Amino acid sequence: MKEVRNLRNIVRDLCDVAGILKKYRQERNGKQMIKAAVLGFGTVGSGVVELFDINRSSVARRVPEGVEVKYILDLREFPGSPYADRVVHDYDIILNDPEIRVICETMGGKEPAFTFSKKALEKGISVCTSNKELVAAHGPELLKIAQEHNCSYLFEASVGGGIPIIRPMNTSLAPEYITQIIGILNGTTNYMMTRMEQEDISFEDVLRQAQDNGYAEKNPEADIEGHDACRKIAILSSLMCGKTVRYEDIPCEGISHISMTDVAYARSMGRAIKLLGISERDEEAGTFYVRTAPYMVPASHPLHGVEDVFNAVFVHGNLVDNVMFYGRGAGKFPTASAVVSDMLDCALNIGQTIPVRWTDEVMQLSDAAQKVERWFVRVDAAEAEKVKALFDGCETVTAPKAPADETAFTTAPMTEAAFAEKIAQLAGVKSTIRLLEA
Ligand code: HSE
Repeated sequence: MKEVRNLRNIVRDLCDVAGILKKYRQERNGKQMIKAAVLGFGTVGSGVVELFDINRSSVARRVPEGVEVKYILDLREFPGSPYADRVVHDYDIILNDPEIRVICETMGGKEPAFTFSKKALEKGISVCTSNKELVAAHGPELLKIAQEHNCSYLFEASVGGGIPIIRPMNTSLAPEYITQIIGILNGTTNYMMTRMEQEDISFEDVLRQAQDNGYAEKNPEADIEGHDACRKIAILSSLMCGKTVRYEDIPCEGISHISMTDVAYARSMGRAIKLLGISERDEEAGTFYVRTAPYMVPASHPLHGVEDVFNAVFVHGNLVDNVMFYGRGAGKFPTASAVVSDMLDCALNIGQTIPVRWTDEVMQLSDAAQKVERWFVRVDAAEAEKVKALFDGCETVTAPKAPADETAFTTAPMTEAAFAEKIAQLAGVKSTIRLLEA
């Protein structure tokens, strides 16, 4: 018994010595465990907190002194959660705790997320977010405040969920002259379009599935009407030019008008319908064409095979040529992983700003209606002769089980303005969808 007690004492003393040495080493290096707070314990926020436990060793490899989530801010209580003791309801507790160096904002929406982020940055606390609405609306302002207070504002998870795209835009692709970005930027709608293509399932049912999987926004209109994808292409376009591309200036169309008949036509043409965010340089005007809309994507394009909740961002640079980033565009852990990658970068850069090139100077966009594109059209069969007279070079398309009382065709390339003028002369137009070129 005596030997066991002695052994236990020796082990305890050794542990004490190890602890003292670790603390001494940390203090000598000026490095302490980084304390963080998570604002919003919803799908993504809870994923962030859990990730620090699940991938503890990966986190420690990147930040040896460790990162600990000290507080979780939420209006709700979480009885029974292993993290219940970290939940606070008063933001000032977090702001006034000098130990907090990094904040993860996963609240969503503009307010109070904007005020909370601003207050943290003004105190020199770095903020990492998945909040695309806030980034698209106030990104440059928050970046400026971060720079003035020697901390960082990072937003990897705001575009493409778990896909690393913001960091590559800021670093790996920095020497490139990027001429085009085409993105499948919304997991919910891509999931819906894929399921509609592969199963005979109604729009409402497939939307419910996306909500159950935690992909959809609180108000799924933001997904379905394209606003979410529009904010994301605004963020990417801003990073592409270093100025502010306002999402309000981007023509935005969603998928709510896409029917199973359109999906069947796309399939018979060897295409798939995808909601795309597109940003392309208009070299003549020195600016960009930017648009969010559903497109029929040909099988030869790398974006064609991107299915379900997956997103992809296709980038063309003048020297690197084509690159594509692919991964889960929504969901708890993929998005949390992107937020935590930012938190770790902030933890490694305490007291300094990680640079992001994005000023508040507004980029005037080219008129997207002047961009030359091709269209797919479904119209009353009675209009077939008129179609031929109006649309030079149009080609008729067919699909199995297509309604007998309609005709469908694809147009030659033309501007949207010219297309709109012709289409206005047809009666019984059922559908118009843009075609993406290979
Ligand atoms: N609702 C968004 C989507 C979540 O479906 O892509 C990720 O931003």
